[in-house]
Amino acid sequence: HLPVDVDVSTLPPGQQIVVTWQGRPVFITHRTPDALAALRDAALEGRLRDARSQDLQQPPYAANWHRSVDPRYGVVVGICTHLGCVPAYRPLPDGQGAGNWPGGYACPCHGSRFDLAGRVFRGAPAPYNLPVPPYTMPTPTLIRLG
Ligand code: FES
Repeated sequence: HLPVDVDVSTLPPGQQIVVTWQGRPVFITHRTPDALAALRDAALEGRLRDARSQDLQQPPYAANWHRSVDPRYGVVVGICTHLGCVPAYRPLPDGQGAGNWPGGYACPCHGSRFDLAGRVFRGAPAPYNLPVPPYTMPTPTLIRLG
């Protein structure tokens, strides 16, 4: 497989693009400062179902609070870890479901909710976080998948 280059220089904060990598959708988001503050909120930790991503859902360089290389850009495989539906982008809290879910991704099939780092919330049928694919950032605005 050849690597897939994604230029994020024109991706505005708060927006997402979906690219195909090895036949799978990969969600690339430009996180806002508010979104980053929400990801950093330690109060969320107890609400996460897979807080430590123990099941190898990410490369070592994404084993951090934002699960990415650059905190501003989220890169996750967009396949629900329950039964494989494609979660919808819902970057803002909607007041439904898990009380203080900060927004992120909502799976249309059985209601699993993930934040903008792809971390799954308790109460969801999905057992694990969305995987982070292997990638590098050769420049501050270029994401190279694979
Ligand atoms: Fe996503 Fe079941 S496939 S919640």
